[in-house]
Amino acid sequence: MMRDKLRVGIIGTGAIAQSNHIPGWQQCELAEIVATCDIDPEAAALGRSLAKVDKDRVYSDYEKMLEKEDLDVVSIATPNCVHMPPTVAALEAGCHVLVEKPVATSADEVRQMIAARDSSQRLLCVVQNMRFSDEAMAAKQFVDEGGIGDAYWAKAEYLRTRGVPSWGGFIDNEQSAGGPCYDIGVHVLDLALHLMSFPEPVSVSANTWLEIANKPSVMKHNPKDYTVPEELAVGFIRFENDICVSLGASWALNAPANANNVSIYGTRGGVQMWPFTLVREEHDMMLNSTPSVLGKKGRGSHAEEIRQLALAITSGEPAPVPPEEALITQRILDGIYASAEAGEEVSV
Ligand SMILES: NC(=O)c1ccc[n+]([C@@H]2O[C@H](COP(=O)([O-])OP(=O)(O)OC[C@H]3O[C@@H](n4cnc5c(N)ncnc54)[C@H](O)[C@@H]3O)[C@@H](O)[C@H]2O)c1
Repeated sequence: MMRDKLRVGIIGTGAIAQSNHIPGWQQCELAEIVATCDIDPEAAALGRSLAKVDKDRVYSDYEKMLEKEDLDVVSIATPNCVHMPPTVAALEAGCHVLVEKPVATSADEVRQMIAARDSSQRLLCVVQNMRFSDEAMAAKQFVDEGGIGDAYWAKAEYLRTRGVPSWGGFIDNEQSAGGPCYDIGVHVLDLALHLMSFPEPVSVSANTWLEIANKPSVMKHNPKDYTVPEELAVGFIRFENDICVSLGASWALNAPANANNVSIYGTRGGVQMWPFTLVREEHDMMLNSTPSVLGKKGRGSHAEEIRQLALAITSGEPAPVPPEEALITQRILDGIYASAEAGEEVSV
């Protein structure tokens, strides 16, 4: 029997769940949060009060939550190394799943998640919220409708000069399995590939550095706690049909300012995301425009992705960010670390 609202459980009620998953599901008219889970009592208590769930529906063990609660959807916002196990468990319990980026910590894990999705016949959607800003959705439409001709190069950069995360397990390899490449590189890489409709990757040449993040002036943690492999990752990725992407991601870099952008270049034009600029080559002129997106949703990007996922679940449509796309991104991220380690180009 179809219920009035999708019953949602949240696993991991830390920073991003508090700021985006809980408000995102609360804004969604098709859903209600009925249970939450966190192993940390403080995060569990905060999650409970924000999500407004009954106290006997707050769990410290997600297996127990999945067993006791009759959930339709599970929203997972745990550290990277705790993405695959609860995703598989929730799918096996018959729930649709929304899981944070990076989808997992290896392509093999993503394949296991896809296999669980296939046997469960539920939707598995990955949070790649950068795609769901008004500008990104407009850019996608512009590119898909031929606005830039054939795209052949993208530049994806998320460079922080001083931005080592000071909370959660981001700098702990046991929890994150990667540094800025996994944390913020994945956002801009995903957006670039999404705009280019996910070309098939062939090879990666990359390097990573850990040179300055351990200085007390750069990070607030004890340097000994910094166990992820890099503070800066730079990669050049080749795809089929002569398409290439340049990627850079840093938490610490001696640059004059942060640089965060995704630019796509094509045979007839280009797109730059921030500030949002469209380029068209017409009549021997470069026509550059800074468009205003009409009919702005005014929703946060997490809330928009959640809304689209809830609609997909209730109308039997595919997930807005299918794990097959996240698998391509994950293969590239794996390739970046493998190439850095090998000191040479690797196939993806
Ligand atoms: N999409 C975005 O813009 C965005 C932004 C920040 C973080 N994230 C992602 O969200 C995830 C969480 O990041 P965060 O900043 O919220 O970290 P966080 O440390 O604040 O929150 C993670 C929470 O998960 C809990 N947890 C860990 N293991 C658990 C388990 N087995 N069962 C239940 N709860 C468990 C922790 O106790 C913690 O409260 C990461 O994967 C990160 O990459 C995404």
